[in-house]
Amino acid sequence: MHDLVRWHCFADADTVADEALVRILDAAQRAIEARGRFSIVLAGGTTPEQVYRKLKAGKTDWTRWFIWFGDERCLPVDHPDRNSVMAQHAWLAHVPIPAEQIFPIPAELDPQQAADAYEALITSARPFDLVLLGIGEDGHTASLFPGQVHPDERLVVPVFNAPKPPPERVSLSVAALSDTHEMCVLVTGEAKREAVQRWRQGVDLPVARLSSATGIDVLLDATACEGIIPADDS
Ligand code: 6PG
Repeated sequence: MHDLVRWHCFADADTVADEALVRILDAAQRAIEARGRFSIVLAGGTTPEQVYRKLKAGKTDWTRWFIWFGDERCLPVDHPDRNSVMAQHAWLAHVPIPAEQIFPIPAELDPQQAADAYEALITSARPFDLVLLGIGEDGHTASLFPGQVHPDERLVVPVFNAPKPPPERVSLSVAALSDTHEMCVLVTGEAKREAVQRWRQGVDLPVARLSSATGIDVLLDATACEGIIPADDS
């Protein structure tokens, strides 16, 4: 495992989404050439929605894609605040990925039941090819929140009393999220700047516990980088 973090600052959120699009399609091509398939873990929240919209036009063999979710909110299956519903509307409903290769977290069940069911599913799916994540203002990622402790041996955990609504969620653990060839964290907006700074200072935030086989690429916009990280002119 490699906990090297590479920080990339871009002018704005749209450029971050463009960069993420290129990295996702490149990772897919590499995985399909190497292993005949591409397994990706999707980030939730609002930040990735822009790149999901851009993925609709992606040039790739969608029949080789396998879609997993890093976390989900315990809401009815078609609730608009579910990460699975957001991803469907923005991207998945518009491309020919076989339905049996899209694995939403059954968070319409109670959190423990959903976590157990999803753990049984992902056990044989690892390592993933690419894990996409966001971060929260408090340094949470997926639904792993500061101050909440989960058993190390679990791959998927139920989450209660989450400080970000809704309070009940299901999340892949640090160990499951880190069992990947590549990882990309998308960070936009001034509100995330303090969490980025604390992460860089080595504060033990949930996002800081992640790793991947090839390190972590953090794609940020200028407002999240300001005064912390020089612009990425690569
Ligand atoms: C969720 C997400 C969560 C998200 C961050 C950032 O279900 O809420 O998985 O971890 O990535 O809270 O959210 P925004 O992208 O909306 O700022």
